[in-house]
Amino acid sequence: MTQPEGFNSNIEWFVRDRFGLFIHWGLYAMPGRHEWVKSRERIPDEVYQKYFRHFDPDLFDPGAWARAARNAGMKYMVVTSKHHEGFCLWDSQLTDYKATNTPARRDLLRPLLDAFRAEGLKVGLYHSLIDWHHPDFPIDGLHPQRDDEAFREREQGRDIRRYTEYLHAQVRELLTGYGRIDYMWFDFSYAGRDWGWSKGKGREDWQSDKLEALVRQLQPHILLNDRLDLGRGIRTPEQYQPRRGRPGEFQLWEACQTMNGSWGYDRDNLDWKPVDLLVRMLIDSVSKGGNLLLNVGPTARGEFDPRSLDRLEGLGRWLRLHGRSIYGCGMSEFAPPDDCRYTQNGNRLYLHIFAWPFKSLHLDDLAGRVAYAQFLHDGSEIRLGPVEDGRVQAISLPVQRPDVTVPVVEIFLK
Ligand code: GLC
Repeated sequence: MTQPEGFNSNIEWFVRDRFGLFIHWGLYAMPGRHEWVKSRERIPDEVYQKYFRHFDPDLFDPGAWARAARNAGMKYMVVTSKHHEGFCLWDSQLTDYKATNTPARRDLLRPLLDAFRAEGLKVGLYHSLIDWHHPDFPIDGLHPQRDDEAFREREQGRDIRRYTEYLHAQVRELLTGYGRIDYMWFDFSYAGRDWGWSKGKGREDWQSDKLEALVRQLQPHILLNDRLDLGRGIRTPEQYQPRRGRPGEFQLWEACQTMNGSWGYDRDNLDWKPVDLLVRMLIDSVSKGGNLLLNVGPTARGEFDPRSLDRLEGLGRWLRLHGRSIYGCGMSEFAPPDDCRYTQNGNRLYLHIFAWPFKSLHLDDLAGRVAYAQFLHDGSEIRLGPVEDGRVQAISLPVQRPDVTVPVVEIFLK
């Protein structure tokens, strides 16, 4: 595989680990109506302030979060230091709009990073480029007060340069005061948007070149995502599974996915994905050479709610037996049978069977290539059937589908 410019050897953990936890946690956990609630409902600062005044996550136990992630088979995490609402989970010296000034009265980020590191996970920060609280962030078509023309008029003097200084200084703070950060995840650029009276924001506004240089200077090993509008970085398709690229072509990407369509805690949302769909999404990502970053939106009390925990447990149950087909694996050059996905690690080819067939599967181009095959969940032999057309290897499956979320056949190639 040829590596594109701009990536160094630090990508190794990323392509090996494959499965991470995204955490969206901020004041928006309190309304519990999606992390964009301030913008969607056009809530002005004075009104949104009630959440700040009452934010008290008394059940917050970072060790419990980290253990839930590790038991789910996740190997890294990315947490929102600040989302678009502008609220800071850490004790920033550059703003009063932070957890330490709420009833929580403490830095919530530091113990979180420490807890995940202690469980052996890599840690990353999601940091919003957008800020709907900062007094110098120019009002645009996404801003909560976009429809308030008097406000817009009054706020015309906002200076993006002063905001950008704040943005860069906060990133410096995070990357100097919080130990080793493995992954910096900025969100997001929208330079192409145009509302007539305002335009979107992109690399000129964020001074993305300088910001990227700052990040690399402070933590040279760090990985960066692709949302700085610089045309590089780890690709981050969201709420979407990309199609399979060409075998051998280098890809560095991560599908970021929600459990229920919302990133922040969304109490009344019922669009929960079942465990088996999430397992298939993980497999699908790895079979196409990518990662899965799966989100949890913790509650305002500071917990993962039961619906999220249930899904994490289901993923962990499957991964305990099938981690071998995920970690260290990537896209195979072989084309899988219908309703199946291949992943591959060296001479081990993993056949994930999404829909259970009747007794046999036909594996293209594997005639003469299979040394041995077994179910992964119990190590029981899968017998080879006839070779067809000189190139197709059949395998014999039991009529009974094994009782695991997605059955996997581990094929040892010659
Ligand atoms: C987005 C959204 C958002 C979420 C995210 C995760 O673009 O603005 O709320 O944090 O990306 O991928």
